[in-house]
Amino acid sequence: MDCLKSWPEPIVRVQSLSDSGIQVLPERYVKRPADRPSSLDLPTGEINIPVIDLQKLYSDDNSIGETTLNLISDACRHWGFFQVVNHGVSHELMTRTREVWRAFFHLPIEDKQVYANTPATYEGYGSRLGVQKGATLDWSDYFFLNYLPQSMRDQNKWPSLPPSCRKLVAEYNEELVKLCGRLMKVFSINLGLGEDNLQQALGGEEMGATLRANFYPKCPQPDLTLGLSSHSDPGAVTLLLPDENVSGLQVRRGHDWITVKPVPNAFIVNIGDQIQVVSNAIYKSVEHRVIVNSMKERVSIAFFYNPKDDIIIEPSKELITEDRPALYPPMTYKEYRIQIRIKGPSGKSQIESLTSQR
Ligand code: OGA
Ligand code: NI
Repeated sequence: MDCLKSWPEPIVRVQSLSDSGIQVLPERYVKRPADRPSSLDLPTGEINIPVIDLQKLYSDDNSIGETTLNLISDACRHWGFFQVVNHGVSHELMTRTREVWRAFFHLPIEDKQVYANTPATYEGYGSRLGVQKGATLDWSDYFFLNYLPQSMRDQNKWPSLPPSCRKLVAEYNEELVKLCGRLMKVFSINLGLGEDNLQQALGGEEMGATLRANFYPKCPQPDLTLGLSSHSDPGAVTLLLPDENVSGLQVRRGHDWITVKPVPNAFIVNIGDQIQVVSNAIYKSVEHRVIVNSMKERVSIAFFYNPKDDIIIEPSKELITEDRPALYPPMTYKEYRIQIRIKGPSGKSQIESLTSQR
């Protein structure tokens, strides 16, 4: 894929644009009217995605709280997005990880440029997703890194500054892999599969994991743009650590966009495209996007738990019936991802194009 070797245009750091004090949003960031945030978007807090306490999942050794399972089942079927509290990850670790990334983005530009990324792997410091020349860009910078499989992990590609960054990120990722494993068991049970089936279908012990720290600088005309365009996450499960003080994530619900109000010390959990495939669309990955504002910058950390690259992923045999035939063709995650690397965020068009082929 030649087009994935380098960016089609010189990269401009959104943070530098923001810091330069411009009052007018550059043309490249101006979205089509239909894609802009709307005054009709439901205000923060009016409706929120479900908040689920995981305490009961852990309280007894073997008996998993039935109610908690049901709450998660409802959230997966009807929302595709929920927040979890009492999830077992140290709040202090969460705060330190968020703040180390905030500090990274506030380093001098030279320190960050060392990690400038390319579309071949996306690993490193980046300012765009997708390689389509002339595309409208999103108002954000990010740092993307590989954690699993171990063979893809190269800590030299992770920020060496602040000095605690690499160690903290490794510790944080280790905890989040565990939490994803627990959630996958719950999803598997709730789908009526054996508790390990879902994970097995996605690569078992060899599942992948990546981390993307997102930085949304202050924006001179936030009504005209987005921090991250509408997309669904391509992998299995995402755990998002939002900025507690600044909301920005919007989740699609029918024709509405709901602005998520982060609950203190919670993770935002969402279903990715590959669980939609394995569950044969009993669970759906849900579109989301990020709005920005002129008053406050925002930092968020997205942890993506992904299928093994080269196993064939298809709807689980147990979830295919005469009434509900397999909705998706078998495909590896590697094949699926290439399209996304070329196109960048594009709503749910990627997974929907698979169904319409049939
Ligand atoms: C993502 C994402 C949301 C946010 O990184 O895929 O959806 O609030 N991030 O930054
Ligand atoms: Ni996302």
